Formats: sequence, C-alpha cells, structure tokens
Amino acid sequence: MMCNTVDKIKDLILAAGEKARLETGNEAEPELSRNVQWPVTCTVGPGLEGAIACESKIGYVHGAKGWLIYRGYDIFELCAYSTFEEVSFLLMHGHLPNSRELELFKNKLIGYRKLNKTLRWLLGFDVEAMNAMAALRMGTNFMRQEFTYMDQEGGRPTTSDAISSDEDSIPMETLPRGEERAIYEFKDFQSRKEPQADSDLQNTWGVEACYHLISGVATIAAAIARNRKGLLPLEPDPSLGHAANFLYMINGRKPTPVEERVMDIALILHADHGMNASTFASVVTASTLADVYLSVGSGIAALSGPLHGGANEEVIKQLKEIGDPANVKTWVDNKLAAKKKISGFGHRVYKAYDPRARVLGPLAECLSEENAEARNLFNIASALEKEMAVRMSQEKKIFPNVDFYSGIVYSTLGIDPEIFTPIFAVSRVAGWTSRVLEYLSHNRIFRPRAIYSGEFNKKYAPVESRG
Ligand code: COA
Repeated sequence: MMCNTVDKIKDLILAAGEKARLETGNEAEPELSRNVQWPVTCTVGPGLEGAIACESKIGYVHGAKGWLIYRGYDIFELCAYSTFEEVSFLLMHGHLPNSRELELFKNKLIGYRKLNKTLRWLLGFDVEAMNAMAALRMGTNFMRQEFTYMDQEGGRPTTSDAISSDEDSIPMETLPRGEERAIYEFKDFQSRKEPQADSDLQNTWGVEACYHLISGVATIAAAIARNRKGLLPLEPDPSLGHAANFLYMINGRKPTPVEERVMDIALILHADHGMNASTFASVVTASTLADVYLSVGSGIAALSGPLHGGANEEVIKQLKEIGDPANVKTWVDNKLAAKKKISGFGHRVYKAYDPRARVLGPLAECLSEENAEARNLFNIASALEKEMAVRMSQEKKIFPNVDFYSGIVYSTLGIDPEIFTPIFAVSRVAGWTSRVLEYLSHNRIFRPRAIYSGEFNKKYAPVESRG
C-alpha cells in the first residue's frame, strides 16, 4: 500500500489498530484501576521487575494485550487523529486541549523554540565528535542556565543585576527572559498542588519549565544533527507545527504533509511508556527536589543506553551488517549461539506484539517503497522478523519492539542514525516532564533497599601487609 497522502496514513494506522484488537482478543481482560491502599504488596524481581514505584493517571501499558493508553486514549486513535502538541498537553494536563488551550499551548512552544544562548554555549564544544545523547544532555543543562537564575545565591536578582549580567552590558528595554519566570517557578516548587493548566496557561510551579523543555529539546537535537554535518543551526519557523519545524530545523527544507505527519506520529508513539528506565530515572532525580531540567537530564542519560533508547541505532547497524535477506538465518544462528541479544526485539512488559511496532512496521514498509536504500533495509528487517517469529515468538514471547522499525522510518525522512535516539528524547520529554510533575504532587524521595550479600567482621590490614 502506498502512503503518499495523510489520509492513507490514517487508514494504515486504523487498520493496524484493528489487527491488534483481533490478534489479542483471546487474551484475558486486564484487571483495571481500583483504589490503591498503600503500602502495596508485590513480588519484586531483579531490575525491580514487578516493583510498584508510584501511582499514576498518565499512561497504561498492558503487556499481554499489547495495549498502550495515554490518559484513557488508545495509542492507535491518538496516532490516527492527533498531533504531538495535543498529546503533550494531554499527558501533562489530563485532558485533550480545547481550541483555545491548544492555540495558547502551541504559541508557548513556538516562543520557547529559540535557544540562542544555549546553542551558542553548546556549539562552543566539539559537538560533532561527541555522542549525540551526551551533547543533548549538556544542551538541557545550558537551557537551565539560560532560563533560570536559580543558582544565584541571595534569591531573586534585582533588575539592575539582571541587566548588568546581560552579555552586552547595556540596559535592555525588556527584562531578561529568566527573571520573571524562573524564580517564581522554582520558589513555588515547595508548595505543590496538582498541575493544572489554568485558562491562560499561566505560569504554575514548574509547568513553564516543562513547556520550555518540550519545545527546546527539539531545537537542541536539530542543532546537533546539523552540526554533525558541518552545518549551522537554523532559526525555527513559527509558521510550522512542532513536528514540521523539527524536520525543517534538521533538513533545512519544509517537509511535505506526509513527512510532517510521519514525524508527528513517531513523536506521539514515543511520548510516554509507563515506568520505563528513563522515566524512572527522571522521577527518582526529581524526588530529591532537584529541578526538572536536571531530572530530564537523568532521563536522557538513561535513554542513551543500547538496552533502552539506543536500540534504534543498533537495529540499523544490525541490518547493515546482515546486508541481504538471504543472510538472515545464518546471522541469527550465530547471534543466538553466542547468546547475544538481537536489538529491536523483546520487552520487559510486552509479551505480545508492541503496538508501536504495529504502527511503525507498516509505515516503514510503505514509506520505503520509493527509497532504494530504505527498501533494502526494510526487506532485511522483514526477513529478520519472520526468522525471529519462528524462533522466539511462541516459547519466549519475544516480538519486535518500538525500535525495530523506527530507524527505517527516520531514514526515509533523511535523518542519520546517530540522531534516532535524540528523536526518542524529543518525544519522551513530554512523558518525563508530565510524570515528574505528577510525582511531585505527592512526593516521597525514592529509597529502595539492596540485599547485602557481602562479608562481615573483616579486620583492617595496613597496606604493607596486604601482599
Ligand atoms: N534477542 C534474543 N534473546 C532475547 C532478546 C533479544 N532481543 N530479548 C530477550 N531475550 C531472551 C533472553 O536471552 C532471555 O532468555 P533466557 O530465558 O534463555 O535467559 C529471555 O529472552 C528473557 O529476556 P530478559 O533479558 O529477561 O528480558 P528483560 O525483560 O530483562 O529485557 C530487554 C528486556 C528489552 C532489555 C531485552 O529484550 C533486550 O535486551 N532487547 C534488545 C534491546 C532492545 O531492543 N531494547 C529496546 C527495548 S524497547
């Protein structure tokens, strides 16, 4: 099926949703939300498997049914009809925005796209030689410095202090950006209440910083993508939506409606996913009352690993290493014999086909139809999926995950593999910030235990007598 129009893409997603419902119809219905009495009893395995970290109303993943739900809405429906802006608002504020809220929210994000100081500081480093996720993490630290005076001792700076700290040391007509907003936000962080978007989306504690991050992580990722090609960052285009502007800032040309839609869908799909490693890392950091920029920095660090967000880049390396569909069987034999994991397969929670891969697989197939290189990768991926299905789907319940087809989709949009994981962060920042705000509304610092299995009663020996 060709997907040369936005409508055809919608049909493809709805068909994928229907297929998911049919294929998992026989699975037992899950036990849905009920009142939780703390403390709860649960069985905990290594890697905190099965442990319950907190309650949340943001999102739900059901492993056997292959469900992914954001605030009560099914992922297939959101992918078919909504945009990343709507979904980010939904995750953070609990309801889909009305048209006025959406307009205000979009304008907020547009206003925060420009990160001139952040990019100037960031590009002062050798970013093209750096791991892209390490650079992204550094960029969010610089955003923090651009936006807030939190680190200054003595509380809120006076107007004259703020102006004289301006880089040109001349009085400005307006107050520096951080002055009005940041101090309030972080000070108010102490007295927390449920994050509500009031009618004007006014600054409530921390929410403004979350908007700043949802918008700004995309600007930084795009600048890193261009820098790696030896190009300067581009000015954002306020006439474009979030997904389209992100593509524009990477590629330097306005995307087609299909390209824009595909990026929007990819961002929606990756926006939230239960208490995954990077979300947990963000929330743990926030639970110490570290601010939301540093919390998102923890999320980026956790996401960078090949067992989590880094898997999408690994998948493309694998497919290139296989080289041809005919080589798949031998390649899998060798990998499994060496007890190596195959990137893009398996999941801690899903023991059914990952619903995100159900969307990305058909998208990769139809988008690669007119792109020979991507087509070759898709053909290898498809053969690999079939081979893995024979070996792993029945006994071990291992299926393709979100990372298996996402790289092929991104490559049809002209994006290099090193930027795949940063794109994951551009999307997941909506989930991280929403979950951080939610957790802080009933904060308790995280402090699990470790079982000590070391020794006792050893006697200190001076260094000379240690052999
Ligand atoms: N390839 C081959 N075997 C796999 C596998 C994979 N991708 N994923 C899991 N397995 C096997 C394990 O070797 C293990 O086999 P065993 O019972 O014989 O020891 C069994 O399936 C259970 O796996 P386990 O490692 O306990 O799963 P987990 O819940 O700890 O890990 C992942 C989940 C995602 C970390 C794991 O599946 C993985 O490493 N996948 C590849 C990386 C990836 O794509 N990550 C992105 C996730 S969205």
